[in-house]
Amino acid sequence: MKVSVSFLSSKNIPNDLKKLDNTDADYIHVDVMDGHFVRNKTMPFSEMKNIHKYTSKRLEVHLMVDEPEKYIPLYAELNTEYIIIHLELDKDIKSLLEMIKRYSIKVGLSIKPNTPISALVPYLPLIDEVLVMSVEPGEGGQSFIENTPNRINEIRDLLNEYNLKVIINVDGGINGNTVKKCYNCDIVTSGSYIINSDDFQEKISSLR
Ligand code: DX5
Ligand code: ZN
Repeated sequence: MKVSVSFLSSKNIPNDLKKLDNTDADYIHVDVMDGHFVRNKTMPFSEMKNIHKYTSKRLEVHLMVDEPEKYIPLYAELNTEYIIIHLELDKDIKSLLEMIKRYSIKVGLSIKPNTPISALVPYLPLIDEVLVMSVEPGEGGQSFIENTPNRINEIRDLLNEYNLKVIINVDGGINGNTVKKCYNCDIVTSGSYIINSDDFQEKISSLR
């Protein structure tokens, strides 16, 4: 299992990113919130650009914003492996996915807990990763929604059925217990479980 670490709950981001650089975390998960798509708002890009210097890890950028087209060109400048947009946007999703691809960055699509899995189907051949939300997007430290494993398994079945290689990642409330239910994932994203502990590596190892 690969592990992506969200620093959303961090109270000292430069310090925590430096500490994460000494772990075997696979990715740094960057949560971007605009105060519209979700109620909370994260730091402006100018600040993020400074902060990302504290990590040498590849970034996975989770855009919880109404206007991804404004953020894609900015985050494409950083050491970014994936840019993830939301399926629920009232926009032309395919052209947003194509925009990400034009920067030679891998494409992710995230699905909120109440969106039917069937809504993903038209996009599965076009993406590299599905980010399954196991909490309502918007804040760290929430509890894992219990029917998420069924949704993950449903996506795994669809990928097998269509013979598609798409990475499955799960985001929200992941800890040493909930991770066991996510055995059909390739990556797990975890925030507060790691960031609020005093041994990052131990927590990361417990997720693998
Ligand atoms: C929620 C974010 C998550 C979150 C993960 O909106 O997308 O990435 O910060 O944090 P934990 O692991 O604390 O739920
Ligand atoms: Zn996230």
